[in-house]
Amino acid sequence: MPERTQTGPSDVSRVLVSTDQIQHRVGDLARQISKDYEKAEKLLLVGILRGAFIFLADLTRKISVPHAVDFMAVSSYGKGASHGEVRILMDLREPVEGQHILIVEDIVDSGQTLEYLYRQLQTRQPASLRTCVMVRKKRPSLKVPIDYLGFEIPDVWVVGYGLDYADHYRTLPYIAELKGVGSAK
Ligand code: PRP
Repeated sequence: MPERTQTGPSDVSRVLVSTDQIQHRVGDLARQISKDYEKAEKLLLVGILRGAFIFLADLTRKISVPHAVDFMAVSSYGKGASHGEVRILMDLREPVEGQHILIVEDIVDSGQTLEYLYRQLQTRQPASLRTCVMVRKKRPSLKVPIDYLGFEIPDVWVVGYGLDYADHYRTLPYIAELKGVGSAK
C-alpha cells in the first residue's frame, strides 16, 4: 500500500499554546461559565463548524450546569473579503428565542465570522448572547465582545486543536505556528 503523506510536529515551527495550557484553560473557562450560568434555565452552546468541534467537545464535558449543544456552519466568500460577506451553510435546528446562547469558536482572526454570527443570532431574540473563543489574534477593530477567551496569539498561521491548514493538523493537541506559511490565516 502506498504511504500517505504524514503531517505532524515536524511541520510546526513553535508551539504557541501547549496541551497542558489548553486543558487548564478549558477547565477555567468551564468553571467560569458554569458559575455565570448557574441560574440560567436554558443554556445553548453553539459550536461553529468545523474548527470549534474539538474545543466544544472538551468544554461541554467540563461545564457542570445543564446545557444543550447545537452547531452552525458558515463559509466566508474568501479571507479578506469585505465585512459581512459570510453565509450560513448549516443553521441551528430550532428557534433560540428566550435561550441563553453561547457561541463557541476556535479562533477569531479578522473577526468577520464572529461578527456575522453575533449579528445573526442577535436578531433571533435570545435571552442573552455571549461568545467563547479559544484563541484570538489581537485586532483593534473587533466589533463584538469576547466574553470568554482562552489565549491571545500573534498574527501567524496557527494549526492544531481544531485549527487546520488545508484540512491537516486539526487533531494536534496543542496550538502551533505552521512552518513557512507566513502571517495571516
Ligand atoms: C476559521 C475559524 C473561524 C474563522 C475565523 O474557519 O474556525 O470560524 O476561520 O476567521 P475570521 O475571524 O477571519 O472570520 P474556516 O473558515 O477556516 O473554516 P473551518 O473552521 O471549517 O476550518
